Amino acid sequence: MSKLKELEERIKKDGRVLGEDVLKVDSFLTHQVDPELMAAMGQRFAEVFADAGITKVVSIEASGIAPAVFAAYALHVPMVFARKSKSITMADELITADVFSFTKQVTNHVSVSKKFLTSADTVLVVDDFLANGQAGGGLIDIVEQAGATIAGLGIVIEKTFQPGRQLIEERGIKVVSLARIAAFVDGEVKFAEADA
Ligand code: G4P
Repeated sequence: MSKLKELEERIKKDGRVLGEDVLKVDSFLTHQVDPELMAAMGQRFAEVFADAGITKVVSIEASGIAPAVFAAYALHVPMVFARKSKSITMADELITADVFSFTKQVTNHVSVSKKFLTSADTVLVVDDFLANGQAGGGLIDIVEQAGATIAGLGIVIEKTFQPGRQLIEERGIKVVSLARIAAFVDGEVKFAEADA
């Protein structure tokens, strides 16, 4: 299976390195969204997890939603995203986890309604970045609390020099990243081999 080269190309063309360890990709992923690229990524996640019996894609607002919904579309299953603030319409029983954001230095209590995630589900968790693994880890906590099965964590951009992948893999969870960044050198992105 060929890797999703168009994602690496797009990161090289439009990504901007900020400081030591942050990649700004707001022109196609985290603010403005390129639907064609998202569709290609969704298709790739669907191919990788085609035989995993996925019944639901789970993500987190805000920037996880775009890739997650395209993965869900390609897998023909619903997508449910964890919410960071409780809406007044959320009267249902909730499953919650704490997610500490290193970039924003805040802890978010993220939640999913029990009615959208049950022990009957097999879940693909999708997020935009894998950095410190806090968001992905919190989503996995939620899926585990629901008693659902986790098929894997699908990531758009992983930064291999941060501890996220190790933390997730230590929990026995498969990580599939479509682009893997090994380093930023003089403002340029150096890639490691992507998973898919
Ligand atoms: P994590 O995603 O592995 O948990 O790492 P971390 O706590 O470091 O990331 C905090 C937030 O910053 C997350 O978004 C994450 O997706 C994002 N992030 C991490 N590294 C980068 C990066 O290099 N570039 C960009 N653009 N974002 C990065 P969030 O604050 O939880 O959510 P939201 O921004 O989607 O609302």
